[in-house]
Amino acid sequence: MPDAGRQREKVLAAAHALNRNARPGNDQGFRVVVTGKGGVGKTTVTALLTHLFARSGYTALAVDEDPQMNLPFALGMPQDGGGGIVPLTKNLDYIEEKTGARPGAGWGLMLTLNPDVSDVVDRFGVTGPGGVKILVMGTVVQAATGCLCPENTLLEAVIRYINLRKGEVILMDTQAGVEHFGRSLAKGFGQALLVTDPSFNAVTVVKHAAVLARELGIPHLHLVVNRVRSGRDREKVLKILCDDIGLFSEQFWLPYEEGMNECDPGVLPLLSCTPPPPILEELARIRDTLEKYGTR
Ligand SMILES: Nc1ncnc2c1ncn2[C@@H]1O[C@H](COP(=O)(O)OP(=O)(O)OP(=O)(O)O)[C@@H](O)[C@H]1O
Ligand SMILES: [Mg+2]
Repeated sequence: MPDAGRQREKVLAAAHALNRNARPGNDQGFRVVVTGKGGVGKTTVTALLTHLFARSGYTALAVDEDPQMNLPFALGMPQDGGGGIVPLTKNLDYIEEKTGARPGAGWGLMLTLNPDVSDVVDRFGVTGPGGVKILVMGTVVQAATGCLCPENTLLEAVIRYINLRKGEVILMDTQAGVEHFGRSLAKGFGQALLVTDPSFNAVTVVKHAAVLARELGIPHLHLVVNRVRSGRDREKVLKILCDDIGLFSEQFWLPYEEGMNECDPGVLPLLSCTPPPPILEELARIRDTLEKYGTR
């Protein structure tokens, strides 16, 4: 079998082993998935919110489901490849062995029976600046369509495996578009942030994503319109959404932030600006809303 095929089988076997052994979740924390069209600001929003949660005392785990792996840099990890991040897909032999997916290996070696964020991050992730926890899926070994991508399946199994304690939150940044947005991704996520900018195409994607997320059973969907420059932008978005605005529990409007380009790709400088830029006020409102719905 070619290498890519073997790798694919390994990934799927590890994911299935994890799924088989997962305990029914009794989360006391909450999970948020961030989705939307390419380039609308998903990674920026995920990184800023992760830091805001960490600053308010949460154990905040940022998960990068995008094979391009931009999230660690947005969170402030060094860009020279330092920082010790090992993508999940590079941990495959370890996972395979410890989950018992490898023939002859027994189950139970890898994880405690009731793993929290720290247990999983200790093995597969890193702690970044400001104490944020980071877990990265890694590159995809072989093109595959939609939610059948084995790497996604593995990441989703690992996330599902975590039993969130009170004060723990998972924020998952996803790759662009909704093609990968399937039942296995949605499982366990109580809230979705559907991010758009004011362009027609991006708003159309969140409309589609909202319908899908609703069908997949995510209870609370929030609209996040990013890079808003004027009241006209707002009117335009509302007009495109029309009655579909009713799909969203809450709506947020993040202003265009000039300073963003200067601190690209990291968001940390923005968080320490004085006075705080206006975008942070609305992001704090998103954090408070997620917290409020998270405990419902
Ligand atoms: N409110 C904002 N004001 C100005 N620039 C912004 C704002 N939000 C994000 N950006 C910039 O827009 C660009 C795209 O943002 P980001 O990478 O977060 O989008 P994305 O949706 O994750 O993209 P991709 O789909 O490629 O993963 C970045 O250069 C970022 O700095
Ligand atoms: Mg991104």
